Amino acid sequence: MSTVSLLAPPAPAAADVFVYADRQITEAAITQWPDAWVSLGTRVPSPTGYVRRIRVDDRHVYAKYSFLGTSLVSLLRGASGDWPKVQAAQERYVRSGESLMRREAAQIRFLAAGRRPRPAQFKGLQAGVLFTAPATGTPLSRLLLADPGRTAELLDETFRDLQPLYQSRADASGLTGAERSIVGTFHRKFGHPTPHAYLAELGGSTNGDGGPELLPRVVRRLLKPTSLPNPSPHRALCYGDLKPEHVLMPPHGQGARIRFIDPGLVFADPHTDLAKFVMRTVLFLVATKPAPAVTEQILNGLAEHVDNQLRGTSPHDQLMALRQLLTWMLMDAVNILTTYLAAPSSLPLPPTGEALASRPGPLLLAVDRVTAYLEQGTSVTSMWESALAEFKAAAT
Ligand SMILES: Nc1ncnc2c1ncn2[C@@H]1O[C@H](COP(=O)(O)OP(=O)(O)OP(=O)(O)O)[C@@H](O)[C@H]1O
Ligand SMILES: [Mg+2]
Repeated sequence: MSTVSLLAPPAPAAADVFVYADRQITEAAITQWPDAWVSLGTRVPSPTGYVRRIRVDDRHVYAKYSFLGTSLVSLLRGASGDWPKVQAAQERYVRSGESLMRREAAQIRFLAAGRRPRPAQFKGLQAGVLFTAPATGTPLSRLLLADPGRTAELLDETFRDLQPLYQSRADASGLTGAERSIVGTFHRKFGHPTPHAYLAELGGSTNGDGGPELLPRVVRRLLKPTSLPNPSPHRALCYGDLKPEHVLMPPHGQGARIRFIDPGLVFADPHTDLAKFVMRTVLFLVATKPAPAVTEQILNGLAEHVDNQLRGTSPHDQLMALRQLLTWMLMDAVNILTTYLAAPSSLPLPPTGEALASRPGPLLLAVDRVTAYLEQGTSVTSMWESALAEFKAAAT
């Protein structure tokens, strides 16, 4: 994991940030439930928001808080200034009524209406703190490990639930945030003329793990105009933050609906949801390293599901769609890996993030090889097959 560079601006101390967030959550919960007994429970590690379980009398509730709509990684690296500056800006941000949590609350209410993908139950929004009821069900990530033979079936089911969103004609313009798209995030992080210092610093943390030159090389390849997908004509409302940890499956055969947590609704090509989901599942495998036979079954299931999703257009269009999908997957992998690598050690990361940040080599090597195929103009089918083989090797 990286250390804070000497050139970095003065950054807030993690303890100040976390104590402040706990106080905001406690006060917001007391305002929301003035007659209840409120206490803080365990914190859920995240590079993005500050998430904590709380108890309200005998019920459990999730509380989520965002600083300035930015990630905790950026905040603790000093991207928004020192603590007095952040605190003053945060007070204005929450008062402005435009907070990320307000938007997430609006997204949850939107999803809960009609037959859209079913979100966690909204419990309240107070002073920038979002409260949701614990969504029950088994995270798809865990279910895949337990039942890898059902991978394609479970993914088909998940994406069937997302269809109404992709077909929605609802005016959701006030709901979405462009900053969550894969390409938008990639450009924000690396598209400016000087991503070099950031990459060099992160590259330092990958020394001995494939070398510091890998990350800049991968980014350079993905920024080439020939790599960049054309702006898609198929734009629709997409889920955004779609990963196997965010899909909670009800017990088999009980007819209950899947719950989707942590939306990040965005107008984009629905295949970006597929790209994110597939890549985050691959990252989960690389981080957890299941038995090779299990990894193989899950990867085969992912590939089968991708086939199912792309079917229905001409063979040429399917190949183009597969190439785009792979490019988005690679961009997403670099987006999240660099976030994990940039996290200061004071920030607890979720298990996948912790594993990838402490051992980025296998993933970097896979991404390096696959972006090389992309650059060389390798045929799409053989590139996709090689990518699956590289991901399997990284997870072994
Ligand atoms: N309502 C809920 N029901 C069940 N689990 C929840 C709920 N809200 C949050 N969680 C748990 O807390 C974790 C972090 O919450 P969430 O994903 O909303 O935060 P985030 O900061 O956006 O994280 P990420 O970086 O993963 O997007 C979730 O992955 C999940 O494990
Ligand atoms: Mg999120």
